[in-house]
Amino acid sequence: MSERVLITGGCGFVGSHLADEYLRKGYQVRILDNLDPIVHGNIKAPPSYVNKEAEFVYGDIRDTNLLSKCLEKVSVVSHQAAAVSVMQSMWNPTRYAEVNTLGTAKLLELLVDRNRYPIKKLIIPSSMSIYGEGLYKQNDNEVFPNLREREQLERGAWELEWDRKPCFHEPTHEDKPLRPTSIYAITKRDQEEMALSIGREYSIPVVALRYFNIYGTRQSLSNPYTGVAAIFSSRILNGNVPVVFEDGAQLRDFVHISDIVRANLLATQKDAGDYQVFNIGSGQPISILEVAKKVIDSFEKDFSAKVTGTARPGDIRHCYADISRARKILGYAPNANFDSSIQELIEWVKTQSAPDNFETAYKQFGI
Ligand SMILES: NC(=O)c1ccc[n+]([C@@H]2O[C@H](COP(=O)([O-])OP(=O)(O)OC[C@H]3O[C@@H](n4cnc5c(N)ncnc54)[C@H](O)[C@@H]3O)[C@@H](O)[C@H]2O)c1
Repeated sequence: MSERVLITGGCGFVGSHLADEYLRKGYQVRILDNLDPIVHGNIKAPPSYVNKEAEFVYGDIRDTNLLSKCLEKVSVVSHQAAAVSVMQSMWNPTRYAEVNTLGTAKLLELLVDRNRYPIKKLIIPSSMSIYGEGLYKQNDNEVFPNLREREQLERGAWELEWDRKPCFHEPTHEDKPLRPTSIYAITKRDQEEMALSIGREYSIPVVALRYFNIYGTRQSLSNPYTGVAAIFSSRILNGNVPVVFEDGAQLRDFVHISDIVRANLLATQKDAGDYQVFNIGSGQPISILEVAKKVIDSFEKDFSAKVTGTARPGDIRHCYADISRARKILGYAPNANFDSSIQELIEWVKTQSAPDNFETAYKQFGI
């Protein structure tokens, strides 16, 4: 009898790709998902891309009775369900605390019954957002600047300073102090720390994977608050120009969904990573303006992105992954090629129709 994986949020972007891969590897897959309308619109059944070989259970992770039934005969729990927008979390903190923090607490509370739920692995998808600003150096010393002050942003002085002098971005490693700057990020940090703490106490092998900026097919195109590559694509699909904040030179780490999936399978199958956290990114920094250009080129358009020269309060300047720990302990090696993977994303986007909700969402920024 093959092992069974429970994927919470398995109808979403990451969860649905994970379902495909676990099935391919011979696992049975059970999905628990409430088809959140913010992600899926008003649908009553799983999106057509969700693998038909997976067992689908409709419901909310906060429904303890249902969750306990879903955990029966399960050996791996991949807890992907979450409310996922940084910006939205700032005006609806209750929802984020309830879904992400309380939802995870309820799952952990069940899992501590090791006799009833003898799972072999719990995977927690954490987020680069819990770092706040990335890692910087000044005179060869690591420094951890806070967010830029509003006054600095109003002057258009985008780069970070430490002690009133310039400091320089570096790949961010897992030991950088955590400085989450949004309610979403706070709930992701809490989720990670709660799971590691309970995991150690009750010997539940937990691995936390800190995803960087994921891109790929099935990313929600109508949700204006998530994945920037998807937002740019959705703008162009609807005849609009992508909008880039600041000067566009802010650096991020775009990691393809296939690499995220590989990292999850490695974490599932290798015990060496248990009770640890890992950055899962590409390890390659790229500017947001460069991403916008690549998306525009892939659509074969001849316009440029609109660069606003204004900042969103709470935004960080640079953060990209040091993936050496994941390489060493999990054997993780990202291998997606950015240009061809963006092209693949655009080919998929062209087959989709999705409203562009960006302007409504960002009205207050004068877009
Ligand atoms: N996509 C990224 O770039 C990224 C980056 C860092 C971390 N993450 C984390 O990865 C995980 C997966 O993200 P994603 O991009 O696939 O998001 P997604 O929004 O595409 O998928 C989330 C899924 O969870 C479901 N869901 C939401 N609330 C639920 C609830 N209360 N009960 C049951 N199901 C619920 C939704 O219906 C959706 O299908 C999340 O935990 C997210 O925080 C994602």
